[in-house]
Amino acid sequence: MTETTGSPDATSMRSHLGGVLRRADVGVRVTLGGWVHRSRDLGGLVFFLLRDREGLLQVAFNPDWATADVIARAAAVGVESVVVIEGTVFERPRDQYNPEMATGEIEVRATAVRIVGPAVTPAIPVAAGKDAQPPAEELRLRHRVLDLRRAELQSALMLRHRLLQVSRRYLSALGYLELETPILTKPTPEGARDFLVPSRAHAGEFYALPQSPQIYKQLFMCAGFDRYFQLARCFRDEDLRADRQLEFTQIDIEASFIGREDIITMAEGLVQALWAEAGITIQLPFQRMSYGHAMERFGCDRPDLRYGLVISDYTNMFSTSESAIIQSALAAGGRVRGIVVPGAGVWSRKQVDELEAIAKGAGAGGLIRLRSVGGAVEGPLAKFLSAESQGALGLAEGDLLLAVAGADRLSSPALDRVRQECAARLNLAGANERRFVWVLDFPMFDQDPDTGALAAVHHPFTAPHADDMAAHPDAPERWRALAYDCVLNGMELGGGSMRSSDAAVQSRMFALLGIGDESEQERRFGFLLEGLRAGAPPHGGIAFGFDRMAMLLAGATSLRDVIAFPKTTAARALYEGAPSVVPVQDLEELHIRTVPRA
Ligand code: AMO
Repeated sequence: MTETTGSPDATSMRSHLGGVLRRADVGVRVTLGGWVHRSRDLGGLVFFLLRDREGLLQVAFNPDWATADVIARAAAVGVESVVVIEGTVFERPRDQYNPEMATGEIEVRATAVRIVGPAVTPAIPVAAGKDAQPPAEELRLRHRVLDLRRAELQSALMLRHRLLQVSRRYLSALGYLELETPILTKPTPEGARDFLVPSRAHAGEFYALPQSPQIYKQLFMCAGFDRYFQLARCFRDEDLRADRQLEFTQIDIEASFIGREDIITMAEGLVQALWAEAGITIQLPFQRMSYGHAMERFGCDRPDLRYGLVISDYTNMFSTSESAIIQSALAAGGRVRGIVVPGAGVWSRKQVDELEAIAKGAGAGGLIRLRSVGGAVEGPLAKFLSAESQGALGLAEGDLLLAVAGADRLSSPALDRVRQECAARLNLAGANERRFVWVLDFPMFDQDPDTGALAAVHHPFTAPHADDMAAHPDAPERWRALAYDCVLNGMELGGGSMRSSDAAVQSRMFALLGIGDESEQERRFGFLLEGLRAGAPPHGGIAFGFDRMAMLLAGATSLRDVIAFPKTTAARALYEGAPSVVPVQDLEELHIRTVPRA
């Protein structure tokens, strides 16, 4: 960087971004703009830490080079005010190098200062010490502009930008076209509630915001675009958690004339490129696991493979026990399944009761506990087990067995929760370990045990396994789907499938899902069926949760730390006060009358 050319960031008001200046720039005369991060007045000597998006830089005002007037003006500037300063880059005396700042070897000796954006006293501090706790999240979200100035959020959002560009570059290089789809649409069934937008022009009619661009991307395939992607904003009215927002971004992808392996290979390359952008090398290919295996051994379809505590079947050992609870569970076709937690035999009754509450919260009737102490198996049900069965449990000294008797439908989620809680207590999940896994061969449908009704495990556009349809034409609950999920450390990063490109198969899927009436199918999905009937290539795709990946790569624990303006878990935008009441006349124009809450 030289004085004559200026930095690439030079504008008519600024010669450089202060945060990029280094020792090589010593002697350069600069005009800088930025925020006063901190200011110190040592009686006639004033120091600023000037902040811009590239970082911090020390600016010094001293009677040796600045007039008394300039120094007085600098002394009066409040923190977070925006200033433009003029000065020259100097090397600091060696004993004043600050190794904690990228610009720590230099300072700018300022000869002029202009306050271009005075700031009121900030509601939350932007400049915090290294170990300072950030302010409470509610305050941060209320005063989001100040919060966004904090170094963590600046770097998280800049990383987000880079990850978006990597996605675009990677997919464009493979011939994927970035195509946009509408936001005012018809409902897309992805399993959540829709956000509805009333139409002013058509009384009583509503648009839906897209839960995903699913149908559109399939129509692009029918229209011959061959490879599509979009950094697509999706909207789902669901209960929020740290890894769920009402509106979020997907890397949404679809391709024609491909099979599952093509999508998986392309998707693994994308994930590898994204992780590389954050400086992390990941090995390909990812592990694979069937849905059946994941449910049997981990109790869920997004297993965290960083630790063991796998689920085993103990039904045989308990089959002759006289415990009424167990006998009734087995009589109803259930099993006894559980996990062995090494060394947890010392956990107190209260600690195990807490696990039981978690299991019950997830649907289990209770939690069987047996521990091995001094060579004997102890626990409320130990007396019902023969010595042989006790031995067959395979408990080592100090182990704790936690088991659930009942239908898999109840024991799987309960053991999943208990497994996660035990791993958290024992700190088994390595923070820097990454266990990617593809979960494959999902069932096509979930069947309600009481009504027998079928629901799509993924979405209704997923193609069933042709072999399963042929082998069990009248038992759709036995069909597997050509679907796949990409899971990392217990979090679903993305999911996709091969689609039903045959309109007749798609129509049958709708019928199995309870939309049998042809005119109803046409009303809701005619647009898609027409596309499929018009000549549809075999096609499939995937969508990754972009915010989730950005969160993991930024080392954040909440999506709110990688989304500039997120909603709280109570579904509010605190910075702007949304949602909000609107004037009655606005509602009337939309043909809407609200009913007070009962
Ligand atoms: P799916 O519903 O699995 O698939 O969504 C894809 C990915 O999006 C992310 N995700 C979310 N992220 C933040 N907040 C949410 N509320 C939220 N919901 C989902 C997850 C998830 O894996 N149309 C299909 C894809 C396809 O079949 O191609 C779809 O939307 O990381």
